Amino acid sequence: MIRSTSLGGNMAFVDWDEKYLLGIEQFDLHHRHLVELLNHAYDMLVAGWSDDAGIKMVLNSLAEYSAYHFESEENWMGQVEYPEKESHILEHKKFIYRWYELNKQFEDDKSYLTLEIVTFLKGWLLGHILDTDAAYVTFIKQQTSLA
Ligand SMILES: [Fe+2]
Ligand SMILES: [Fe+2]
Repeated sequence: MIRSTSLGGNMAFVDWDEKYLLGIEQFDLHHRHLVELLNHAYDMLVAGWSDDAGIKMVLNSLAEYSAYHFESEENWMGQVEYPEKESHILEHKKFIYRWYELNKQFEDDKSYLTLEIVTFLKGWLLGHILDTDAAYVTFIKQQTSLA
């Protein structure tokens, strides 16, 4: 279902890169899956999909999987007593709220999937991984080296 980036002539919207790997397998898999869903949404946009139901489905998958991923990270941050947990959760919450607004517009048929939306998702996701998520890796590495 998800197009491999190594097949076909089309460039993926987001090229998965090793620099996005945090070294925590579970979260790396989640991030990779989120990127695949985002690429899927972009492909639908470029292909000029007019099927509302199809687009809603992929946006719902993105919303649901993001929520699942955030919950996993937040539980883990609680377990390892990550001191920046609250501000990290706040970032997740702000994102979920933005999604909620976007999804509501889609539900009400007041909006279309646009390049602006997928670009926002790309920017947020990659920025969050490289900055906010990477910070908990720095923390856990320090913890392990102190142990
Ligand atoms: Fe994450
Ligand atoms: Fe996160």
